[in-house]
Amino acid sequence: MSLQLGRSVFGDPLHTGNTLTREEAMQLFDEWVLNPRLKLHMLQVAALMKAWALEKEGLNESGSWHWEMAGLLHDADWDQWPELHCKKIIEELEKRKVDPEIIHAIASHGHLHFGVIPETKMDKMLYAFDELSGLIHAYSLMRPGGYAGMDLTGVKKRLKEKSFAANVSRDDISDACERAGIPLDELVAFIIPVQAAAGSGVGND
Ligand SMILES: [Fe+2]
Repeated sequence: MSLQLGRSVFGDPLHTGNTLTREEAMQLFDEWVLNPRLKLHMLQVAALMKAWALEKEGLNESGSWHWEMAGLLHDADWDQWPELHCKKIIEELEKRKVDPEIIHAIASHGHLHFGVIPETKMDKMLYAFDELSGLIHAYSLMRPGGYAGMDLTGVKKRLKEKSFAANVSRDDISDACERAGIPLDELVAFIIPVQAAAGSGVGND
């Protein structure tokens, strides 16, 4: 099954600046994504994107919503339409006249699968957070205290253990860090507290 998108331009430049409202985005999220584990993953990535945009990119609330929305919806079609993964959500967001930058970030979150290279900082951070977030969450589930007391050393040990969270691509992680120009240690240290907060407050709503 090929998920290659076969194109590299998404959305319409005339729609630059357009987003869904939070309510619209959450409605789509709830209608399309039924699997609670996938929902949690998408909420965690959304929280990471928002926190990064606010803290590291200096964006305000409304600017950070672009980043958060990309994180929130990046896997929206994976649950019910895996054979259309990425294609379906991209077409939906194009139909809804969403900012091309948000659509491009979603389209490039797995460039080996979709054939779209991460270009902007938003693209690169979504790609970097996606796999690392999954590995760190898997690690929290095997720790008696969850995220409490989790540190960089422990995460790096799990990364080296190929059998741990074997579906998380270590190649993607190192490729993503390189593309983002951010050391792995810095990313992991950023993710742990943000994800700890996001992971506890969101249920299976
Ligand atoms: Fe994902």
